[in-house]
Amino acid sequence: MSFPIRRPRRLRGSPALRSMVRETRLSVDQLVQPLFVRPGQGIENPIESLHGQSQLSVDRAAEKAVELAELGVRSVILFGIPESKDDQGSEATDADGIVPTAVRAIKKACPEMIVIGDVCLCEFTDHGHCGVLHETRDGLSVDNDETIDLLADEAVVLADAGCDIVAPSAMADGQVDAIRCALDDHKFDQVPILAYSAKYASAFYGPFRDAAENAPASGDRRGYQMDPANGREAFIECELDLEEGADIIMVKPALSYLDVIARLRDDTDVPIAAYHVSGEYAMVHAAADRGWLDRDAAMLESLISIRRAGADMIITYAAEWYARQSLNR
Ligand code: PBG
Repeated sequence: MSFPIRRPRRLRGSPALRSMVRETRLSVDQLVQPLFVRPGQGIENPIESLHGQSQLSVDRAAEKAVELAELGVRSVILFGIPESKDDQGSEATDADGIVPTAVRAIKKACPEMIVIGDVCLCEFTDHGHCGVLHETRDGLSVDNDETIDLLADEAVVLADAGCDIVAPSAMADGQVDAIRCALDDHKFDQVPILAYSAKYASAFYGPFRDAAENAPASGDRRGYQMDPANGREAFIECELDLEEGADIIMVKPALSYLDVIARLRDDTDVPIAAYHVSGEYAMVHAAADRGWLDRDAAMLESLISIRRAGADMIITYAAEWYARQSLNR
């Protein structure tokens, strides 16, 4: 009996060999760091459920952007905790609201940073839903068409403040089209849209809702976010968003939806983003805090698996950490 000719272990013998034949790479250039901005000055409120993350006042957010750029992180996505909330989410469309103010400060301190603006109402509505609510025969429900008009206004305000990319995440039908038309009308035809196309009604957003203080006051988001059981439906959402003018499509969350990322990768040549969400990040830290996982190895494995599935870029709370550990290697 002779040995088989192919012996995969031959290529695993040393770090140099393993690195030479490695199929997937992860670079800090592909990562986007989320930042939570809040009113005030000199504020840095640690978010208990999100290891290493804080709510930052605008001055601190600008400092953080400079620090991130020095580490090699090239992009941030901003979420705002507004001064006040109401049923229309008015601060979302206010040019002097918390997010546009932070965008201006960050772009001033760090012009090369790619600033992504999340386009949604849930951080700004007192009921916490992603759009305007109307009474229907089934109870309160997000009014799609009224909502997309507000999202279009919000996108223009964000672009005007200096956002390099806008990212609609409200899961309203037609939101990309409404935003594209509004941007083009206001001479922002060069501002790309990163569409949260396949955004699932996931339990893994828990820590984010603490961080952004935007949990729905009643009900849930299943009337507009996707059913976790549906994979094929992601194609419908992505096709619509691309027809409407999306430049990048996104799958969110990432780790429970790697099959969706992989299937889209086979089907489309546009850039694909994945959102490694708060719960996916927090689980690793929670287990590591108990000594049950190797923190760094588990986080790296999470990120590389998202790349292996086919994502070009990853929004992750681990971006800063990844940049630091890359420098130290
Ligand atoms: C909402 C929004 C959410 C996240 C980003 N934008 C959550 C939600 O639907 O409540 C979640 C991100 C995360 O969990 O890290 N516009």
